[in-house]
Amino acid sequence: MDQVTTRTFAPDAAGLTAAADVLAAGGLVAFPTETVYGLGVDARNSDAVARLYAAKGRPSFNPLIVHVPTLQAAERHVSFDATARALAQAFWPGALTLVLPLKPDAGISPLVTAGLETLAVRVPDHALARDLLQAFDGPVAAPSANPSGQVSPTKAVHVADHMTGLINGIVRGGDCTVGVESTIVATQPVPTVLRAGGLPTESIEAVIRQPLARAGDSAAPTSPGQLASHYAPKGTVRLNAETVEAGETLLGFGPVDAAINLSRSRDLTEAAANLFDALHQLNAMGAEKIAVSPIPETGLGAAINDRLRRAAAPR
Ligand code: TXA
Ligand code: MG
Repeated sequence: MDQVTTRTFAPDAAGLTAAADVLAAGGLVAFPTETVYGLGVDARNSDAVARLYAAKGRPSFNPLIVHVPTLQAAERHVSFDATARALAQAFWPGALTLVLPLKPDAGISPLVTAGLETLAVRVPDHALARDLLQAFDGPVAAPSANPSGQVSPTKAVHVADHMTGLINGIVRGGDCTVGVESTIVATQPVPTVLRAGGLPTESIEAVIRQPLARAGDSAAPTSPGQLASHYAPKGTVRLNAETVEAGETLLGFGPVDAAINLSRSRDLTEAAANLFDALHQLNAMGAEKIAVSPIPETGLGAAINDRLRRAAAPR
């Protein structure tokens, strides 16, 4: 691919206006959200979406999440049933993506949905993301701002390290506070969690007062793009390590002697926020064999374990 100049946009009104202009011109702009940094393009512009897939090296059957500043803006593109509306009202802005029927006149590029009749939408809970979306005033398709299959970025420097020369700009925000991607829920034909993420499924079930189906259950819709091997650091990954073997570097959880610790106090929120930076650091250290302490499956632990299982999957 041709190299492009990657500009840096300051996290202020002038920077966001300039970033919105680049989006309007069909450019690729990375920006912070509360979950991870996204790589945004105008979701109506197929040429721009194609450049996005090329920059990420992403399989084009994997559809993208569209980011909007408000529920009202989302309603231009998708139809909300009662469950979806209740979830949007409870959790937007926030780390919840809803997969809903695409409206016929939605104006979204079919490359964004990979030809599906549903669209994934979310309203991010981050002031810079919201201000950028408002300045741009249109739907922004944004996957995580990392090369496909690699670790997601939770700091601007992660984006700069891997995407400089491939994208048109980076909005320099701070660290992402949640640290794992949004939870993805489809409401039809039955409420289903397609990807565990930054909003615990227990919180969603408390609002809809029924258990969520899981992708793979018989009535559940399928989830494209949940590739088995993903989030891969350079080293091999061994999960649920109670002990450390020769040559292994420990990614710890809890009061253990570890090269990097996700949370010494066993705080799952802290661990989620630290997860991807820890994987970036293990790469920088040249760790070849990574052992990971056991992490409970409750709350944000479900999302952390999902990412770690895929980091550990055969490649
Ligand atoms: O937190 C996040 O969700 C971040 C930030 C940037 O918003 N974005 C993110 O996007 O994680 P990405 O592209 O890495 O993941 C999008 C996921 C994929 O697993 C894809 O298969 C799923 O969303 N997806 C998108 N559209 C879908 C649809 N119509 N039906 C089912 N799954 C869909
Ligand atoms: Mg991703």
